[in-house]
Amino acid sequence: MALIEWTVDLNTNIASIDEQHKKLISYINVLHEAMKMGKGQDVLGKVLNELAAYTITHFSNEERLMTTCGFPGYAFHKKEHEGFAQKVLKLNDDFKCGKYLITVEVMQFLKDWLITHIRGTDQKYAPFLLGKGVS
Ligand SMILES: [Fe+2]
Ligand SMILES: [Fe+2]
Repeated sequence: MALIEWTVDLNTNIASIDEQHKKLISYINVLHEAMKMGKGQDVLGKVLNELAAYTITHFSNEERLMTTCGFPGYAFHKKEHEGFAQKVLKLNDDFKCGKYLITVEVMQFLKDWLITHIRGTDQKYAPFLLGKGVS
């Protein structure tokens, strides 16, 4: 069973955003599977690198949409993104330097943060953006 299963409460009903969230979840699931199967550092490092890069891409897409549409909760949302982005980038850098191993706890942290953020913080902009005609 995958670490994260997609459930309807994760839907924002903004097609591009839902697609990006599914992709992020898929990276976390692939990383989890690779960890469980005891894959080598090269495989884990590659997936972690992709996850880190895609996280940054996704956050900037969301932030651009929020600023373009004048979403009032933008500053708070951006702060949450910055906190997580820093952690993921540090995990990635530490991994590259051999300072860190991917553990069950790290996977749980990635899962909990992403799901809590999509269910809570991302859901806050969804009705606002949909109301502005974003689809
Ligand atoms: Fe998001
Ligand atoms: Fe977000």
